[in-house]
Amino acid sequence: MKKEDALKMDDNDQLSHLKKEFLYGDDNDEKKIYFCGNSLGLQHKSLKNKINEHLEQWKKFAVENHFNGDYPWMDIQDKIKEKLKLFLGCSENEIAIMNSLSVNLHLMMVSFYSPSKTKNKILIEENAFSSDRYVVNSQLKHHGFNESSLLTVYPEEDHSIDEDKIISKIITNKESLSLVLLPGIQYYNGQVLNIPKISKVCKDNDITIGLDLAHMVGNVKIDLKSYDVDFATWCSYKYLNSGPGGVSGIYVNSRHINNDIVRFEGWWGNKLSSRFEMLKKYDPEQSAEAWVLSNPPVVLLDIHLASLEVFCNAGLDKIFHKSKLLSDFLYDGLNSIDNYSHFFDIITPVGSARRGSQISLFFKKSSEIFFYEISKKFVIDYRKPDVVRVAPVPLYNSFYEVYLFVKEIDRLVKSSS
Ligand SMILES: Cc1ncc(COP(=O)(O)O)c(C=O)c1O
Repeated sequence: MKKEDALKMDDNDQLSHLKKEFLYGDDNDEKKIYFCGNSLGLQHKSLKNKINEHLEQWKKFAVENHFNGDYPWMDIQDKIKEKLKLFLGCSENEIAIMNSLSVNLHLMMVSFYSPSKTKNKILIEENAFSSDRYVVNSQLKHHGFNESSLLTVYPEEDHSIDEDKIISKIITNKESLSLVLLPGIQYYNGQVLNIPKISKVCKDNDITIGLDLAHMVGNVKIDLKSYDVDFATWCSYKYLNSGPGGVSGIYVNSRHINNDIVRFEGWWGNKLSSRFEMLKKYDPEQSAEAWVLSNPPVVLLDIHLASLEVFCNAGLDKIFHKSKLLSDFLYDGLNSIDNYSHFFDIITPVGSARRGSQISLFFKKSSEIFFYEISKKFVIDYRKPDVVRVAPVPLYNSFYEVYLFVKEIDRLVKSSS
């Protein structure tokens, strides 16, 4: 890997100006290079004013700002959906912005997991994110079942997930399987799953399928229309840069948007036209907003909106294109290090169509020492005991930063050999 190549790619990068719009660290300190946008995205400089403006509005207009003033709080949900549909490839009425990810997984399972005595199994991947597993196990318990109703698909020896194995497990268990819950991108190895292929098998066998898009939204292009899954949910604080604990969202396939579906209900899902009439009968919005329970946290919504605007102003296609260039550059650079495989394997799939920005390194030895050394100069994510995840993000990372990372790993491999 050559420094000149990195600098040339930065020169040709049409998004390089955005880096200075994202805030990180104290300007007086020597900053580490941030490669952890897969965990918590950085703060855009516009957000401070946004928050202050809402404090000002609250002070000036109080309750009247819900509907009145230059910037009524009631309009923010619609503005977010207008943008987010471009990230998700679905229509606005299939999206609602609400709660956080684990809460939304539960709410989706209220509607999409209706087990019977004979058809009650749930399929997830064995290495699912802990919270997803807890959600699923507690739902099983809630319905009077136990972990014997949980089916899992183990990763391969190289840590990849074989979609054909998922499909064969679905087919083998089709009579007893009620729900398949999968990630769009697997959090540990960074693999993009072939969702259309799996979703078709679920549909052919009358099995519900839902997605956790935490590591996919804002990372790669999503086309929920063609995936044709039943539901999805995600979080906004990773690639979408909408702040720690930022507001999540749900997607409900339009074929399920009807009055017969079972869901937990609250006043904010009632049609806006009669929401404040305090009627006894629930009259749901004819959209995914029927799943919204409470009046939403306006400041979080507006931080989310502002963060999405940064993407839309820069152009989603340009961002995703740069992301692929960055992750290819990182992948190829790591792969070119002499004898790297004595220390680690790159467990993220080869080929940029099968991954997003994250590259995961599985350490065969000395993982703690490597993590300690890398962390002196870079912010990366360490999944104990063996995996380091690195995510160069197109909005605020440069090719030169990737070059510096690869050089550092090269140095550490040489000095440890
Ligand atoms: C794949 C996945 N699922 C679930 C969660 C939990 O999200 P939350 O704390 O917002 O409920 C996370 C958080 O990082 C995640 O990455």
